[in-house]
Amino acid sequence: MVKKRACIFISGKGSNLNSLIKRSRDNSFPIKINLIISNKVNAEGLNYAKKFSIPFIIIDTSKKNYEIKILNEISKRNISIICLAGYMKILSKRFIRQFKRPILNIHPSLLPKFKGINTYKRIIEKKERITGCTVHFVNEYLDSGKIILKKSFEIKDSDNERSLKIKTQIMEHKSYPEAIIRLFKNINF
Ligand code: GRF
Repeated sequence: MVKKRACIFISGKGSNLNSLIKRSRDNSFPIKINLIISNKVNAEGLNYAKKFSIPFIIIDTSKKNYEIKILNEISKRNISIICLAGYMKILSKRFIRQFKRPILNIHPSLLPKFKGINTYKRIIEKKERITGCTVHFVNEYLDSGKIILKKSFEIKDSDNERSLKIKTQIMEHKSYPEAIIRLFKNINF
């Protein structure tokens, strides 16, 4: 199988990046991670890039035209899919339009509920009984693109923000690779 060349965008811990790297070592997994982009020089997730010898670039988002720089780097490397994994910057409409290929994101709630940040806090405050994670396409509106996969679990009375995060992330680490497999079964690009 010819794997698609992927770029993963991160800003922090990179636990989803790690799960994608691990899965992508499997021959039957549809993507190979050829590039990692971080907007934070100290992102912990960069350690996975180093550990697995994957090229990475740190982008200074205070610079004008930083998105053009990203587009140049990904076009140089023939990247055909972008996966956002905890990337804490919003991509511009122009970027999304110019890339023209799938951009995926993972969000720690059952979208369309709880778009945006501070998700766990809001879920606990709202006394939700069920939560989970969503993998979706990125469009020009925040956390609003077409949904590829959602997975859910029940919230217990004893749950708090911390336990919710742990449970959600365990689910995310299975869901992101699964969504990618599902995507490649359905579309050709
Ligand atoms: C994930 O929980 C994801 O849902 C959200 O950002 C978090 C990133 O975590 N978009 P990590 O950096 O992958 O550990």
